[in-house]
Amino acid sequence: MLITALLSALALFSPALAVSINNTLYIITNAETPSLDRPGLTPIGLQRAQDCIPPIFADLNLGLIVVCKPNNKTGACIPANDTAAPLAASLGLVPDSHCGTGDDASDACVGNTLTKYAKNSTLAILVVWDSAEMDDLLENLDIELPGGDDDDDADDFTTHADLLLIKNQKQTVIETSMNCTGIDGTAPGDF
Ligand SMILES: *[C@@H]1O[C@H](CO)[C@@H](O)[C@H](O)[C@H]1NC(C)=O
Ligand SMILES: *[C@@H]1O[C@H](CO)[C@@H](O)[C@H](O)[C@H]1NC(C)=O
Ligand SMILES: *[C@@H]1O[C@H](CO)[C@@H](O)[C@H](O)[C@H]1NC(C)=O
Ligand SMILES: *[C@@H]1O[C@H](CO)[C@@H](O)[C@H](O)[C@H]1NC(C)=O
Ligand SMILES: *[C@@H]1O[C@H](CO)[C@@H](O)[C@H](O)[C@H]1NC(C)=O
Repeated sequence: MLITALLSALALFSPALAVSINNTLYIITNAETPSLDRPGLTPIGLQRAQDCIPPIFADLNLGLIVVCKPNNKTGACIPANDTAAPLAASLGLVPDSHCGTGDDASDACVGNTLTKYAKNSTLAILVVWDSAEMDDLLENLDIELPGGDDDDDADDFTTHADLLLIKNQKQTVIETSMNCTGIDGTAPGDF
């Protein structure tokens, strides 16, 4: 009885549509932020947004950048928006932030946005999302992080701003580091 009830509860909350697109999808979170909700990015965060992220994506054929909706009043998603801005400017793209954020966000919005875009374009897509909302984003896109089904995996994004998820047609999701010179440590094999 209990198990049946649990299973149907789980079924209720499982995401209705998994995004199935052929476009390569990249997902990152906001760059480093100061403590205590003070605004902006830290100097390291600025360095990541301005100097590291634009070259990473310069040649990856991005056609769409989706960002959670920045809210000047609550401060939500301002860091994610600030993280995406230099890259967007360098590529001449205007980030799509119509999906809202946090409680304002519709669960299906990002998935629908990606699916709609994929109908019309094969270019790659980058999603830049608030680290605190990463759990929900991944769940809504039905993306499983490598290394299992532990719900807490997305917590890594709140402590590690360098994480980069890559999903493409042929592979399961890859979790890697941006490897920003000087701020992300040394990759194995580098000197
Ligand atoms: C993805 O590509 C395959 C062929 O490689 C095609 O059959 C399929 O319809 C495509 N899916 C979408 C959602 O575009
Ligand atoms: C929010 O703040 C940013 C930066 O200060 C400003 O550029 C933008 O116009 C503001 N947006 C709204 C809706 O007030
Ligand atoms: C979000 O970033 C864009 C540039 O991509 C900028 O024009 C806009 O003012 C930013 N919004 C807020 C609320 O900071
Ligand atoms: C698809 O792309 C064409 C040409 O770029 C554009 O005119 C059209 O509005 C796009 N359709 C959708 C649904 O985005
Ligand atoms: C970061 O470095 C690791 C280890 O060298 C490598 O496997 C990975 O592909 C690199 N990530 C990127 C985005 O280049």
